[in-house]
Amino acid sequence: MTPQEFYGAAYAQLCAAEQQLTELIGCCPIARDSGAGESAVLYCSSRIKTPESMMGKLKKNGLPPTGRAAMEYMHDAVGVRAVCAFTDDVYRVAAWLVAQPDLRKETVKDYIASPKPNGYRSYHLIVSLTAGPGAGVCAEIQLRTIAADFWAALEHQMKYKHTVHHEQLIRDELKRCADEIASVDLSMQTIRELLAQEF
Ligand code: GTP
Ligand code: MG
Repeated sequence: MTPQEFYGAAYAQLCAAEQQLTELIGCCPIARDSGAGESAVLYCSSRIKTPESMMGKLKKNGLPPTGRAAMEYMHDAVGVRAVCAFTDDVYRVAAWLVAQPDLRKETVKDYIASPKPNGYRSYHLIVSLTAGPGAGVCAEIQLRTIAADFWAALEHQMKYKHTVHHEQLIRDELKRCADEIASVDLSMQTIRELLAQEF
């Protein structure tokens, strides 16, 4: 099934919202401290949830697997991910985003302050667009450091492998890596702050 068939008339609105958010983040004026005018957002990616994935999620939640139910009850048909160098950039960009007049903050899930048991660290912002081409649409914005993004990409692959040998060992190792990465993120942040004092 194509996204157009699944989401129906709402699909165009979802695409507009995806583009609006991508452009907004692309214009984010929050600068990296060290870089001359470089954005705190290193890169940004986005997607519209596939019909298969959305239907799976709806069924899991006991909802009818329809585009209409997706629009009504789900907030992540549009997903945008912004990757930053440092943890404090993540929070600065998030603060800037929620202050934008076209966005309304709905929910925050701070998995950096409270990591998931598997070690996942990311700042999730559920927003709704209140103006512009994507007005009326809800979206999930994920903000994380580049190191945490590297970890999440690898961990994500685990979910797609149905038979994993040494599953517990891999989980334990991934968790250990997540915690080491968080510790490195903290050290890098400290180095950056020390460097900033030099100028
Ligand atoms: P879904 O996970 O999408 O069913 O939504 P939810 O309501 O449980 O929200 P949650 O905040 O747990 O996850 C939203 C999204 O964050 C997911 O779709 C993933 O993109 C990402 N995410 C959450 N947890 C993990 C994780 O443990 N590993 C990775 N790689 N990504 C995760
Ligand atoms: Mg989840």
